[in-house]
Amino acid sequence: MAQAYYNAQEGVRRLTTETGAGQWGSALAFAGALFNLEVTVYMVKVSYEQKPYRRAMMETWGATVHASPSNLTNAGRGILADDPDSPGSLGIAISEAVEDAATHDDAKYSLGSVVNHVLLHQTVMGLEAKKQMEMAGEYPDVVIACVGGGSNFAGLTYPFIGDKLKGRMPHTRFIAAEPAACPTLTRGVYAYDFGDAVGMGPVVKMFTLGHSFVPDRIHSGGLRYHGDAPSLCALVDHKVVEARAYKQNECFAEAVRFARCEGFLPAPESAHALRAVAQEAAAAREAGDSRVILFGLSGQSPGA
Ligand SMILES: Cc1ncc(COP(=O)(O)O)c(C=O)c1O
Repeated sequence: MAQAYYNAQEGVRRLTTETGAGQWGSALAFAGALFNLEVTVYMVKVSYEQKPYRRAMMETWGATVHASPSNLTNAGRGILADDPDSPGSLGIAISEAVEDAATHDDAKYSLGSVVNHVLLHQTVMGLEAKKQMEMAGEYPDVVIACVGGGSNFAGLTYPFIGDKLKGRMPHTRFIAAEPAACPTLTRGVYAYDFGDAVGMGPVVKMFTLGHSFVPDRIHSGGLRYHGDAPSLCALVDHKVVEARAYKQNECFAEAVRFARCEGFLPAPESAHALRAVAQEAAAAREAGDSRVILFGLSGQSPGA
């Protein structure tokens, strides 16, 4: 909403963006509809095929959605020439959206995660969560969220991490859950790398699997990104945040357990956070202590 608003104020006519699972693309499509902006979404091909109803949502809000890699950009054509069956990745979709904006005067590129202003916009979640914890008379011992590019994790945790860094709540722990198939924080190299696949954008210091890395076709389309937000990477490097990687099936088992208890089905991405929650709860039970665990349920299925 904030990105659409400021672009509309500047007189921009069209926004281009990437989306993995389709959540960010849906958010920007809706915001574009509210502020009279055209929105062009490059949706990672494997998700475009796995999640057709997400595409229908974006189109309902007036966005144009292309499967990425596409034949519409040099970046997409280059990837397809090397691998016609490429499943795509967030890095590739970013390259296409950036190129589209860079080659059209009336368009600007809007990024859905990773960079500071996106992370800060999302902190409304953590600020609200803090108020809700206050209402419950609690403060979390552990805060958990899944990580794709880092915005939903940062949005929930940074207001609490602020307390920790200021020495107010020194014992609160933070756990970032990522897929074993795309283990940036747990197995990546901490180095300067491009945020997009073909190297059109600036380099940033982050944990990275290499900007040409194309992850397996896991169902968590939103977590298939080769790097992470630089500020989150710095927090992992400084051991303020602990990262854990999980396999898809163990996450899905937790999602099913959660659905049977709570009545709704979490998105595959959120299932990674649930896996970490279950580990923490089991560890607390084993240690005989009680822990207040706050976690981010970043999306629901079907559709996510
Ligand atoms: C449901 C859901 N959760 C989490 C994410 C991760 O996003 P990020 O870490 O970039 O905020 C996504 C990304 O698409 C998603 O769809």
